[in-house]
Amino acid sequence: MSETSIDIRGVPVSYGDADALAGFERALLAFQCYVGDPMAELKSVLSEHPDFLLAHLFKAFALYSSSEKRFALAAKSSLQRAAELAPQANPREARLLSAFSRLDDGDWQGACQQIDALLIEHPTDAFALQSAHLMDFFQGDALNLRNRVARVLPHWHADTPGYGYVLSMYAFGLEECNEYAKAESIADQALAINPKDVWGVHAKTHVMEMTGRVDDGIRFMTSRVDDWSPDNNFALHNWWHLCLFYLDKGDVDSILSIFDDQLAPNAEDISIALLDLTALLWRLRLLDIDIGNRMANVADIWATKTSAEAGHYAFNDFHAALAFADCDRADELAELKHAVTAANANAPAQLKSMNTNIGLPLIEAAEFYRRGEYAAALEGFSAVRDKAREFGGSHAQRDVITLSIIESARRAGHKRTARHYLADRQMATPESGLADRIAMRIG
Ligand SMILES: [Fe+2]
Repeated sequence: MSETSIDIRGVPVSYGDADALAGFERALLAFQCYVGDPMAELKSVLSEHPDFLLAHLFKAFALYSSSEKRFALAAKSSLQRAAELAPQANPREARLLSAFSRLDDGDWQGACQQIDALLIEHPTDAFALQSAHLMDFFQGDALNLRNRVARVLPHWHADTPGYGYVLSMYAFGLEECNEYAKAESIADQALAINPKDVWGVHAKTHVMEMTGRVDDGIRFMTSRVDDWSPDNNFALHNWWHLCLFYLDKGDVDSILSIFDDQLAPNAEDISIALLDLTALLWRLRLLDIDIGNRMANVADIWATKTSAEAGHYAFNDFHAALAFADCDRADELAELKHAVTAANANAPAQLKSMNTNIGLPLIEAAEFYRRGEYAAALEGFSAVRDKAREFGGSHAQRDVITLSIIESARRAGHKRTARHYLADRQMATPESGLADRIAMRIG
């Protein structure tokens, strides 16, 4: 048994081997800045230190946070190994084990409550904080994306290792709570510490997206592409954001060029990558823009996931449905709906709520859209829109529902309804070129 220790932020660790702790910090840094491979670091550490409880917990969460069922199964074995080592756990690690056990049970809220209790005692636990931040994102908990970080920030200082990454989390939380000016200011502070802090880049980009600063957004993203793109695991999502700015400009060539050069799907893509590709192409299709066979390629990959993944995370399922609908694949849509329904029968409460209230109704709305039953699609998308927060994602990502409502209404001949839902975009971002073009389509 190794001596106990504290990490570089003063947080107690039951396993005190210096090399093991250094390996954990390397994994944590990769997790924070999306550069490198935290799993490879953890694997390396655990090969030398198989009883390092905290590394097993980290590995479990990293796998759960993929939002893929196939990795959740692997996460369970890491969690079981951590549970075997529980007798050596300190109270902090026991809380983490308790939190991730709840996560394994599908109880994301319970997991976050456990981590909040941990953060009262150890507010500089960077791993616990980031884990909860990601869980807040996956369950659309905007208030805690902001407030959970705010509750620990008084304990963080400029010389606390990883301070900038905590500011980035706070900036994103502020943005999701519509505090745009403060969000941008905090993101700028984070980027002053580390210009390659991609969560900070992302938070600032969201501010520009939500406030309609399209030219600023393109300038910001393109002028510092070397900071956020090369060798970065989060680059795909930030390319997606850049494409949204080009969409507002009506610059389809730039979007398709980025898609082909940076976003081209492959069979290994995890769903949270695939969904951004899908959402981007769907937005183009809502405008009747020719995208060639790109959505078909994306749908092909979604189809390989249905039997194993459907029902695991409603946000993923919804995007799979959009891909199938756009490609007129009735059988694959039906298969998806059937698989989600079957998985939902034994789903834990929170997931069941997501599937029942959000995921399945959206899949049905996509089915109506595919069949050209646009009035029914309008009704389906509209019924879910204002509660869709529950299935996670950002405001910018969930905006695809509103855009689908508007186009369904237009195609159904319900111009007044289409204009109604377009109006809040026009009020929020009066300079939006996209809103102007949609308004012209509605007529
Ligand atoms: Fe985003």
